[in-house]
Amino acid sequence: MKNLFAVILCSLLMLSNSEAQKVEDFDSIQLYTLTNSEGMQVKVTNYGAIITSIMVPDRDGQLGDIALGYHHVENYINAVDKPYFGAIVGRYGNRIAKGEFDLDGETYSLAVNNKPNHLHGGVIGFDKVVWDAKLTKGPHWQGIELSYLAKDKEEGYPGNLKITVTYQLTDANELRVEYDATTDKATPVNLTQHTYFNLKGEGEGTILDHELMINATRYTPVDSVLIPTGELASVEGTPFDFTSAKAIGRDVSKENQQLEYGLGYDHNFVLDRDDDGLVLAARVHEPTSGRIMEIHTTEPGIQFYCGNFLDGRLVGKSGKAYVHRGGFCLETQHYPDSPNQPDFPSTILRPGKAYETTTVFKFSAK
Ligand code: BGC
Repeated sequence: MKNLFAVILCSLLMLSNSEAQKVEDFDSIQLYTLTNSEGMQVKVTNYGAIITSIMVPDRDGQLGDIALGYHHVENYINAVDKPYFGAIVGRYGNRIAKGEFDLDGETYSLAVNNKPNHLHGGVIGFDKVVWDAKLTKGPHWQGIELSYLAKDKEEGYPGNLKITVTYQLTDANELRVEYDATTDKATPVNLTQHTYFNLKGEGEGTILDHELMINATRYTPVDSVLIPTGELASVEGTPFDFTSAKAIGRDVSKENQQLEYGLGYDHNFVLDRDDDGLVLAARVHEPTSGRIMEIHTTEPGIQFYCGNFLDGRLVGKSGKAYVHRGGFCLETQHYPDSPNQPDFPSTILRPGKAYETTTVFKFSAK
C-alpha cells in the first residue's frame, strides 16, 4: 500500500528543471491510509500533503470515493493546468494581485503563474513539495502529521516558515485539518485544503445538482482577473445567495458580471460569525446518494469554486474523465489578495506569533 506511489522515476525524467530541483527525495514519497470505526477511509500522500481519496458511506452504507484525484503520483506532478487536486496550497492560497506586495517597507515580487497574478503559492507551492510525515493516533481517531520548512525567499516570500498540517479522521466521521506555522520574519500566510468533492462519487458527472448552503451574507466581488475589488457585498438577491440551500446549478448560468468573470462560481464568501472559534461555514447535500458534508472552520472566509476549469481532459483514478463542473472546492481561508487590501483581516504572521487554524469536514447521509 505504502509503495503505491513508488513508480516515480519516469516522472522525474519528465519534470522541468525547477521542479526536479525541488522534488529531491522521491523515495520518501509514500501513501498513507487512515481508517475509522465507521468504515470511512482517507488516503494521504506526503507529496503536496495531498488527500488522494475519501471513502464515505451513502444512505445505504455503501462506500464511495468522493474526492477527485489520481492513482499515481506522476499524475499529480505533471497534471495539465495544475488543478491542485486534494493538496495543501500555500504559502498563500488564492491570488495576490500582480504577484507583488509591500511589507514593512519592502516590496516583494512573486511568480506571476496565473496571469497577471500570483496563485496558490507560486510555481512550486506547498502542493509540489515532499513533506515529512508521521502517523499519529488517539482513542477515537487516526491521524497524520505533515511538516515542511519553507525557506526564506522560497517562491519570493520572506522568512523561514515552519508548517505542520495534521489530518485526523475521527470515529464521528469527521476529517479534522489543523494548520500550525511559525516564522522568523514577517510573511503573509494563507493555507487551505484544495480537495475537489463530488458527493455522488468521483467521476460521476457534474456537481450541479448538489444542494449547497454557505453561511455567508456577504462575499468579495472581483475584477475581471479575479482580484477582489475590496468591497464586501451583500449576496441578497444575487446568484451568490446560498444562505438557504439551493442546487449549485440553479443560478450558475444566470446573467451576472461576477459569474462571467469567474466563468461560474470562483469567489470568496465572508463567513457570518459572532466569535473567533469554529463556525459552520457550509453544508452540501447530494440527493441521490444522500451524502452530506458539513464544514466548520476558524477561518474568516471560504472560496467556493465549482470546477469551471475542468473540461473532461483530466482522467481520474478510476479511469473516468473529470467533466466540466465535475467537482467543487470549498476552500476555507482568508480573503484573496489580503496582503494588498488593508481593510481585509490581516494574513501577516510575525516572529514570535503562532499561525493556528482548524477546519473540520463532517460527513453523514440521509
Ligand atoms: C481558484 C481557481 C483556480 C483553481 C485551480 C481555485 O482555488 O479559485 O480560480 O482555477 O483553484 O487552480
